[in-house]
Amino acid sequence: MNQALATDIAIRNAIIDLERVNVTFGGEKNKTVALAETSLRIENGEFVALVGPSGCGKSTILKLVAGTLSPSEGHIFVTGREIGANDVRIGMAFQNPTLLPWLNIRDNVMMPLKIVPPFKRDFARKKSGEYRDRAEALLAKVGLSGFGDKFPWQLSGGMQQRASLCRALIHDPTLLLLDEPFGALDQFTREELWEIMQTLWIERRPTVLLVTHDLKEAAYLATRICVMQARPGRIIDDSVVPFARPRTIDVSFQPEFVSLTQRLRERIVAARAVHEVQP
Ligand SMILES: Nc1ncnc2c1ncn2[C@@H]1O[C@H](COP(=O)(O)OP(=O)(O)OP(=O)(O)O)[C@@H](O)[C@H]1O
Ligand SMILES: [Mg+2]
Repeated sequence: MNQALATDIAIRNAIIDLERVNVTFGGEKNKTVALAETSLRIENGEFVALVGPSGCGKSTILKLVAGTLSPSEGHIFVTGREIGANDVRIGMAFQNPTLLPWLNIRDNVMMPLKIVPPFKRDFARKKSGEYRDRAEALLAKVGLSGFGDKFPWQLSGGMQQRASLCRALIHDPTLLLLDEPFGALDQFTREELWEIMQTLWIERRPTVLLVTHDLKEAAYLATRICVMQARPGRIIDDSVVPFARPRTIDVSFQPEFVSLTQRLRERIVAARAVHEVQP
């Protein structure tokens, strides 16, 4: 097989492949280049963290991959086909838990099974048996046994966030898109959820794209960290995170961990400084 063809096949096997993507918003006068010539390739089972200053295009990348936003230029392939051409099972969680207040926690968690094929076909038949057990098992994994009958407003913010992670994972997504899901939590709850997230990722191995402002979170959870820069938004650093798993919070005190997060921090600070001197 020639080299070009082998490379092409390997690229098409990537779960996510952004090829020289540009995204611009607005017209000529108020144009914002949200992403410029951005390429990003993520293999099956990777856990990639996107970090960078506010407005650098992190959420824009998630929206492109989820198919809710189209690029102005370039191509996006998800599981080898151009976005929109195939059904990819995606799970999502955000900074805000966004649970439906009129449904109890179990029904909130089961919601994707009601919507996503092939589960939705059997929802009416399995919702009080198999699907319910599936939701309860996942709730138990995040420390919410016995809370299935409660309503979102009866739970703390951290508990609601755990439930929203269950909802993101209930349908065994190929791809998990997380936009600062731990951002609104206190440090201890956040670290607890990192551990839970890591366990779920090791057990199920979805491909994860995590947006975060927290470099410690990125280095604890991810296999790779991509640093972005704003105006125009683009990736300026792509580093592998080498620490063995399962990682405990103690890893964050190791010199290699500290020097990695420090180096990434310096990258972001330098990128911000460049941006500040531009008009
Ligand atoms: N619908 C839109 N219309 C116009 N401009 C937009 C739109 N969505 C995003 N932008 C602009 O695109 C750029 C990237 O936005 P994006 O939301 O991806 O940033 P981000 O990195 O997620 O920031 P944050 O860390 O604050 O969430 C910003 O300059 C933003 O103002
Ligand atoms: Mg964002």
